[in-house]
Amino acid sequence: MSEISKKFGVMIPQEKVEERIRELGEEISRDYAGKSIHMICVLKGGVYFMTLLSRQISEDIPVSLDFMSVSSYGNDFKSTGVVKIIKDLDEPLAGKDVIVVEDIIDSGRTLYYLLGILQSRNPASLKLCTLLDKPDRRERDVKVDYTGFVIEDRFVLGCGMDYQQNYRNLPYIAVVEE
Ligand code: IMP
Ligand code: MG
Repeated sequence: MSEISKKFGVMIPQEKVEERIRELGEEISRDYAGKSIHMICVLKGGVYFMTLLSRQISEDIPVSLDFMSVSSYGNDFKSTGVVKIIKDLDEPLAGKDVIVVEDIIDSGRTLYYLLGILQSRNPASLKLCTLLDKPDRRERDVKVDYTGFVIEDRFVLGCGMDYQQNYRNLPYIAVVEE
């Protein structure tokens, strides 16, 4: 065990995370009955949540995936305020029912910027699903359609979220106890 891993605490245990993702899958399946879903994963943090969530969508609903990478953070806790596209989508969005899947919404800057770009590509609909929301830190108004958990303002990791690019693989939501 490394130094840092000794300081982890559990904020939300694995079973709770999985149970909530099942509920979100059911809710989304009800809302998209008779349609298809085009899920956009915001790399890298959203990848764990998106795969788990997509597996909870009803088999009657065709689900396609695409990936985008934007950066607003360096290897630091604090936002640098710089948002840039590192990797754009492979497919056009026109006419598609799109759900953007994110790990966490913090200041809201990343999603505010990203949703503007995606909306300009004329999807049939555009919704946002996030595993975690830290509303206390919001600087930009972002409409969140599906939220896993609203959490207090603490730095979290696991379930896709990193601490200096590590620990995304933890199956629970962890906090650094310092
Ligand atoms: P925003 O633009 O401030 O909303 O930034 C959101 C992004 O910052 C998320 O997609 C995460 O990648 C990262 N982030 C924000 N808070 C945390 C955290 O507590 N742990 C790990 N990453 C975080
Ligand atoms: Mg992210």
